[in-house]
Amino acid sequence: FSLRILAISGSLRQDSFNTRLLRALPPLAPEGMEIELFDGLGEVPLYDQDLDVADPPKPVHRLRTAIAEADGLIIASPEYNGSIPGVLKNAIDWASRPMVRSALLAKCVVTMVATPGVGLGRNALSDLGRVLHDCHAFVVSGPWVHLSEAPAKMEDVQDEDGEVTTVLTDPRTRRLVDIQLTSLQQAIK
Ligand code: FNR
Repeated sequence: FSLRILAISGSLRQDSFNTRLLRALPPLAPEGMEIELFDGLGEVPLYDQDLDVADPPKPVHRLRTAIAEADGLIIASPEYNGSIPGVLKNAIDWASRPMVRSALLAKCVVTMVATPGVGLGRNALSDLGRVLHDCHAFVVSGPWVHLSEAPAKMEDVQDEDGEVTTVLTDPRTRRLVDIQLTSLQQAIK
């Protein structure tokens, strides 16, 4: 059987480097791992504890179910002003509840940050790890996939069917991704 991994991007932007990084992962996954991108983050409302009732808003239900049903998570996020975007923190806050049955509880997660900047993104990565740890997720350690100067490290290519996919062109990044995904697989097992 195959491990089902849910990939979540912290950016809603159409041409997001983080979303493209996640789109480039499936061909790099080890055998026995399937990666699916979550596409409903933009519909998740702002967290409001008054809405966090037995029957929460549909997009929240979708998010929680997708996380709960996944064997593990890959989160790729931009760094905004030295931390993670509010969009991602908001989704994590929703996913972290109800506290004793949170979808994030003991979930294995690997984290990545892509930025067009040079040498930036470390603060978002460490904040993301800290927040997930606080939600009692299991943040898989490994070499940090901290993709600076992202535009030079990925390329969009068209396959025979006209489908556009992203390819990671930087060998070092591919190697780091390979180690991360293998670590995720081992951690889940
Ligand atoms: C940024 N950006 C940015 N980059 C970085 O490396 N460190 C930072 O602290 C910030 N801060 C920041 C704040 C805000 C509000 C925005 C909109 C942007 C630049 C950011 O890395 C860049 O826009 C990326 O392209 C965003 O990621 P996606 O959307 O390409 O995945």
